[in-house]
Amino acid sequence: MMYLILALAVVMLVAVLLPTSRKAVATVEDTQRSDLQEERDLLVSELRDLSVQSLPDTERERTELVFKARLARVLKALDELPPAPSGTALSRPAHLPALLLTLGCASLMIVGGFTFFQSWRYKGINEGEAKQLQNVLKLPALQTRASTTKNPEDIRAYARAAFDAGKFQQSAQAYADLLNQTKNTRDPEALRRMGVYLSTTEQYKQQALGLVQSAVEQDPKEAEGYLLLGYTHMNNGNGQEALDAFLKFRDLKPMSLEADEQIAELRAALGNNATGAELFAQNCAACHGPEGKGKTAPSILSSAAMNDTETLKTLIQKGAGAMPAFPSIKGEALEALVKHVQSLKP
Ligand code: HEC
Repeated sequence: MMYLILALAVVMLVAVLLPTSRKAVATVEDTQRSDLQEERDLLVSELRDLSVQSLPDTERERTELVFKARLARVLKALDELPPAPSGTALSRPAHLPALLLTLGCASLMIVGGFTFFQSWRYKGINEGEAKQLQNVLKLPALQTRASTTKNPEDIRAYARAAFDAGKFQQSAQAYADLLNQTKNTRDPEALRRMGVYLSTTEQYKQQALGLVQSAVEQDPKEAEGYLLLGYTHMNNGNGQEALDAFLKFRDLKPMSLEADEQIAELRAALGNNATGAELFAQNCAACHGPEGKGKTAPSILSSAAMNDTETLKTLIQKGAGAMPAFPSIKGEALEALVKHVQSLKP
């Protein structure tokens, strides 16, 4: 499709530009000018001839007068024409520089469409959005391929792209096709991703839980299983189970922030406070590493602050240097976090 549009664009471009390559056509003004110039030259030479002809003086004077009057008229008319274009190279194609420039820009656009402009499309949006946009753009092609080849790998590629693009219904449909095609009902990726979509429907949310649970049992090391199990539980109104699943997800993927919002929400709803270890994983591990040994920020294990509870509290609430402040961690949560930080000391 893309190539068809491009080919059409090229044809149209050529059609538009073709006339500019023709020889320049003289305008009305050009013809007028050359007529007048011809007449002027003729009059001048006739006037010159007159002076060498042997004519009676009166006769010559009369003719001269007539010619001079005509010459004056011609010169005046020439004067009144718009200034002549400088240069007389009318045999080159008209607007040659314009033609070259347009052709240059057009080929740049066409070549650029395939190469560097592609990445320009994604400028100004963050990485996640760019990836999502790319996935959305890929979807129609992947869908066509999946439905023509019916190859399980093609169906899976389409289902994955749809899932990554946030098109969960399309994705669930594709995973269902995949299960149909392979007759493999034990495909954890397909089960959990179909399941989490079905859990958003009133009719199938119960069955959905079974699908996602079976996916988690088959692939207990896959973090996504717990994340989707958490959502499926949430959609079924099982707060505590959802929280457990999200926490398990974060255990398996401590650097991911994907479940943090849900965890905080569920905790608030369940009146269940975060433990010091969870607070550390959530707020500190990204810079100091899961065990405080340092990552993008230095290790905290040998810091003098570790020995002083009050210093630690102030540090966490107010920040220091490149370390951000965490004013929202206070009260019991702050106590629990500080206890956990101090427990990290070897
Ligand atoms: C954005 C990265 C970042 C995060 C998140 C972060 N820190 Fe830090 N932290 C730093 C940096 C950088 C330093 C070094 C501070 C400096 O500039 O002197 C530091 C220093 C420290 C120190 C040593 C202070 C000292 O004076 O020796 C402790 C203890 C500490 N952080 C604890 C924490 C705790 C607890 C959390 C979570 C609530 C946390 N940090 C979150 C970046 C971070």
